[in-house]
Amino acid sequence: MNKRLPTMLVSAVLAMSLIACQQSENSQTTKTDAKNASEKSQQAMKKEMPKVEAEDLSYLIDEHSYANKDEVLLTHLDLDLEVLFDKKQLKGHVDLSFERLQSNAQQLILDTRDLTIDRVTSIDSDGNETDTQFVLADKDAVLGSKLTVELKDGEEKVRIYYNSNPQASGLQWLTPEQTAGKKEPFMFSQAQAIHARSFIPVQDSPDVRVTYKANIKTPKQLLAVMSAYNEPNTPLDGDYQFDMPQAIPPYLIAIGVGDLQFKSMGPRTGVYSEAAYLDSSAKEFEDTEQMIDITEAMYGPYLWGRYDLLILPPSFPFGGMENPRLSFITPTVIAGDKSLINLIAHELAHSWSGNLVTNATWRDLWLNEGFTSYVENRIMEELFDENRSEMENALSVQGLRQQVKSLPVGDTILHITLDGRDPDDAFSGVPYTKGQMFLVFLEQRFGRETFDKFLNQYFGDFAFKSLTTPEFEKYLDKHLIAKYPGKVTQAEIDEWLHSPMLPEFMPNPQSNAFIKVDAASADFISGKLALNDMVTDKWSIHEWLHFINNLPQDISLEKMAELDKAFDLTTTTNNEVAHAWLKLAINRGYGVVNQRLEDYLISIGRRKLIVPLYKALMDTKQGDFAKRVYAIARSGYHPLAQGTVDAIVNPAKPVSK
Ligand code: BES
Ligand code: ZN
Repeated sequence: MNKRLPTMLVSAVLAMSLIACQQSENSQTTKTDAKNASEKSQQAMKKEMPKVEAEDLSYLIDEHSYANKDEVLLTHLDLDLEVLFDKKQLKGHVDLSFERLQSNAQQLILDTRDLTIDRVTSIDSDGNETDTQFVLADKDAVLGSKLTVELKDGEEKVRIYYNSNPQASGLQWLTPEQTAGKKEPFMFSQAQAIHARSFIPVQDSPDVRVTYKANIKTPKQLLAVMSAYNEPNTPLDGDYQFDMPQAIPPYLIAIGVGDLQFKSMGPRTGVYSEAAYLDSSAKEFEDTEQMIDITEAMYGPYLWGRYDLLILPPSFPFGGMENPRLSFITPTVIAGDKSLINLIAHELAHSWSGNLVTNATWRDLWLNEGFTSYVENRIMEELFDENRSEMENALSVQGLRQQVKSLPVGDTILHITLDGRDPDDAFSGVPYTKGQMFLVFLEQRFGRETFDKFLNQYFGDFAFKSLTTPEFEKYLDKHLIAKYPGKVTQAEIDEWLHSPMLPEFMPNPQSNAFIKVDAASADFISGKLALNDMVTDKWSIHEWLHFINNLPQDISLEKMAELDKAFDLTTTTNNEVAHAWLKLAINRGYGVVNQRLEDYLISIGRRKLIVPLYKALMDTKQGDFAKRVYAIARSGYHPLAQGTVDAIVNPAKPVSK
C-alpha cells in the first residue's frame, strides 16, 4: 500500500515538488518550450550536482498526478457507462470506494482531463445519495484538471456522474469506414501513461491500485471487452458486466467495443477480433498458451486467470498494451510467419513485470519495460532457440545505440528526471533495451540460476505492489549484491541507473547469423557478389532487417533499384521490413517507393512505424510530401499519434509576444 512515509514528510516533499511542477507546467504550453525545458535539464545535469545533506525523498512523488493518495486512497471502482458512438462519449457514473489513511482527511483529490462532471454525490451504506460539493480546476496542459471532492465524516464512497468528450486523449472512436468490416464503429482505450483520467475521474497514478466492476451499455450488435474477466462467447445484447478482482493501477483499466468475434487458441487463451483478422491472428499467435507455460516455469504462476488478445484496428498507436487478462495488439504484427510474435511474449511478460510488480512513478518506467523486455527475450529463447533470441537482442541493441545519439542526454538515464513533462514525450527505447541490458549484465555476473532465483523472489515479494527505482536498488543490494559479494560494484550499478548514455561494459549481443549477412552485404556493395548469387532464400525477417538497417547510408540509387528488383522490397508485406526499407529510401531519395510510402502511412497508425518515417521526410526536405500525406492520414490516427506527428510535421513556432 501507500504507506511508505509519514504523511507530513510526504506532504512537505509534495509541496516542494508541486512548486517545481507548476514552474515547469508554465513551460509546457508549447512543444518548443517543452524542448527548451528538456535542454535546460540536460545542461543542469552536466553541471556538477551539489552534495545533498538530507535524504532527497522526491523520488517518492508522482509528479503526474494531483491525487492526495497519501491521505485518501481509492480501493475499488464501480463503473456504469454507456458507449455513445454518435456523440463520441462514455456517459454514466463511477462509484469510488476509498480508504482514509488520514482519519481527518476532508477531501478526495482526483485526476481528470476533458471530462464533463455533472454531479457528485456521497453514498451511505444503504445506498442513499446526497449531493456533495466539488471543484473542477482549470486544465493544465500536461496533468489535466484537478477535481476536488469534499468528503463527509465517515463517508467511504462517492459517486461521480460524468461524461468523457470526443477529444479524450485515451480513447479512439473509429467510424465504420475506418474498420476492417466497414459496417460498424469501433472504440478502444489506451490509458498508459496518464490517459485513464480522460475517461474516468480517478487517482491516476501507478502507485494506486483498485479492483473494479463495470456495467457497459453498447449498441446491441456490438461486443464490449475489458481488462477484466471476459466470458468467451458472450452473447451479444448490448449490456455487459465485468469484474476485475485483482487490484491494478488505473493505467491498466481498458475497454474495447466493436464488431468483435472470439476464437479460442487454448484452454486459457483466445483472440477477440473483427472477422477480418480472426483466423489469421489465432494462427499467428497460436503459441500464446505455450508462452504462458514457459513463463510460469521460469517465474512462477500466471495469477490472472485467462489471457486473451484483442486485435485492434491498424490505427492502434502501439504495438501492444499489456491490459491485464486482455492484451491489446496491433494487427501490423500478423506477418503470416510468426516473425513478430515477440510482441505477444512482451505483453504476456508484463503479467509479471508491470501488472504484478509495477513502477510507482513514470520516472521508473524501466522497471516495467526493462524487466519485461528481459523476460520477453527469455520466452523467445525457450519457444524458439538462442539463435532467434540473439538476433532479436542484437537488433534491439543496435537500434538503441542508434537512438541514443539523437536523444536529449537526460532521456538516456534509466531513472529519468521528467520535471513535469508528459511521460509520453520522453518515451524511447532506453527504458526497454538499456533496462534489459542492465538485467542481462546482472545475469552474466551472477549466473542465470542465481539471477532467476532473485527475479522469482522479486516478483513474489512485490506482487500487487508498486515500487520506485531507489526502492529497487535497496532490494537488489540486499537480495543479490550483498549476498554474493565481489560480483558487481556500486559504481557499476550507479552508472546503469543514474548516468546518461550507455555503459562501456554494456553487454553487446551478437548473432552468428548476422555475421554471415554482413559478409554477403559487404561483397554486394563492393561489387564482388552479384545479387543472383547471394543466397537469401533461408533468411529470416530478422536477417532481412539487419541487412537493410546496415546498408551504407550513401548506397547508390542503382544498387537500391537492383535490390528492389531482386527482392521486391518495396512491396514486402512484412511491416517491419517495409518500415526499414522505406526509411532508407526516404533518406536516399529513392522516390520509387513514394506510392507505397503513402499507402503505408495512411493505412497504419502505430507510432513506432510511422513517426521515424515522418521525421526522415522532414529531415530530408520532403516536407511537402509529408504534409500532403499527413493531411489524408491524420483523421485515421489515434489522438496520441496525431499529437506526435503534429509536432513533427508542423513544429510549433515559438510564441512571440
Ligand atoms: N506498455 C507498453 C506500451 C506503452 C508504454 C504505452 C509507455 C504507453 C506508455 C507496451 O507493453 C509496449 O512496450 N509495447 C511495445 C512492444 C514492443 C517493445 C515489443 C510497442 O508497442 O511497440
Ligand atoms: Zn511493454
